[in-house]
Amino acid sequence: MTRLKLAILISGRGSNMEAILEAARDPAYPAQPVLVLSNRPDAKGLETAAAAGIATAAIDHKTYGKDREAFERAMHEQLTEAGVEIIALAGFMRVLTPWFVNTWEGRMVNIHPSLLPKYKGLDTHQRALDAGDTEAGCTVHWVSPGVDDGEIIQQASLPILPGDTADSLAARLLPVEHRLYPEALTKACAEIQTRA
Ligand code: GAR
Repeated sequence: MTRLKLAILISGRGSNMEAILEAARDPAYPAQPVLVLSNRPDAKGLETAAAAGIATAAIDHKTYGKDREAFERAMHEQLTEAGVEIIALAGFMRVLTPWFVNTWEGRMVNIHPSLLPKYKGLDTHQRALDAGDTEAGCTVHWVSPGVDDGEIIQQASLPILPGDTADSLAARLLPVEHRLYPEALTKACAEIQTRA
């Protein structure tokens, strides 16, 4: 089996990225990380990736002002130069234009900290608490032009406990995300390989 060349896009801490890199140390894992790219040059995750021996790149979106597509064309260039075949968004906090999403359609997945279709966008945990939900969770989905709107690949949930806050919920959910993402990415790779 050939491993798909994987880019992980981050904006900050990169703990989900780390979980994927860890899983991909197994030569039988279906994706091979070739690039970690951040829109923030100070993203902590870039250091973690470099320490793990993965090529990194920073493309500062601020340099491009309001021209989102110019920023994305710069990313696209790096991604194609690295021969990337699948992209995992892991805490990448830029909304992508239809141009970029369509260019990578069927080859780009995202993790979102809610049980989609509930709570697209930001403040997912506070919104789950405010709604009186009894469970929260996370979703890995294909990226489509609508925000947090693509076909669901896999979800994981956990109970909301009395006294939970948005912070406590986020902290309890994080290890759940770390288990879900590498597994869901395996499924995504299998789907791409089936199509090929
Ligand atoms: C994760 O909780 C991820 O689900 C969320 O950001 C965090 C990134 O943490 N993503 C989104 O909110 C996307 N809309 P990490 O940098 O440690 O992986």
